[in-house]
Amino acid sequence: MAELNIQNVHMQFSGVVALDGVTFDVKEGEIFSLIGPNGSGKSTLFNCINGFNRPQNGSIKFNNINLLKKQPHQIITEGIARTFQNIQNVPYMTILDNILLGAHKRIDNKSTMKRWISRKQRQNEEAMGLEILDFLGIANYEQKYMAGQPYGIQKLTEIARALVAKPKLVLMDEPAAGMNEQETVEIAKIISEIREDLGITVLVVEHDMSLVMSISDRICVLDSGKILAIGQPEEVKNHPDVIKAFLGDSADA
Ligand SMILES: Nc1ncnc2c1ncn2[C@@H]1O[C@H](COP(=O)(O)OP(=O)(O)OP(=O)(O)O)[C@@H](O)[C@H]1O
Ligand SMILES: [Mg+2]
Repeated sequence: MAELNIQNVHMQFSGVVALDGVTFDVKEGEIFSLIGPNGSGKSTLFNCINGFNRPQNGSIKFNNINLLKKQPHQIITEGIARTFQNIQNVPYMTILDNILLGAHKRIDNKSTMKRWISRKQRQNEEAMGLEILDFLGIANYEQKYMAGQPYGIQKLTEIARALVAKPKLVLMDEPAAGMNEQETVEIAKIISEIREDLGITVLVVEHDMSLVMSISDRICVLDSGKILAIGQPEEVKNHPDVIKAFLGDSADA
């Protein structure tokens, strides 16, 4: 059964068409990459999946549940967590507290309103947070404040917060942006381990082609909100429309 089913999604902002009839499935257990030039609609599609944007047309289902009828916090409860292209951390909280924000779906409304959770629950959540920091290779960072941390640590904190939500599917918007070569190799390894060791399906947006080619089961290429090609890395790399779009007229030479 296809896990995420995106059908004919159309999204425009006034006169700007960001997504124009986008259709694809992400299957359970896949690492699926979404690539395309700046402004081709990749982040808009993420925002449609997690409920920040409402497309004017089309359908988005996760395990047959219609996500377009749900609010962002309900979509996390359905098992979809995400990271952001522009890092969204709280600077004057510790890294551990930042990542525990991802556990809010397990804290019932009554406790949230009282701003209180039981000591036992706090201990359980902290233990899980520490396990995830260990998994990501930043185990000794939990009590450091977010402010002033290197970019790589901030990016990993975002990933940790998404994983703390115990998702079935994680959406990662440019996890390697701003990373050096060594850090990019590390991110590629982490994405593979998220699938292999944690059993989480991954939908990733990335511009780094060596990362995309090395980790993806399938790749979808967006161009001006439309799908240009979709398939396994080799198929997409050799697709004439992709070559033409990325290399322009020099592809005809
Ligand atoms: N909230 C918004 N209001 C108005 N226009 C928007 C909004 N969000 C996106 N757009 C427009 O939709 C188009 C697609 O933008 P989007 O951010 O999805 O591209 P992208 O593929 O993620 O690009 P990048 O690789 O630069 O992150 C762009 O023309 C953008 O200006
Ligand atoms: Mg984007």
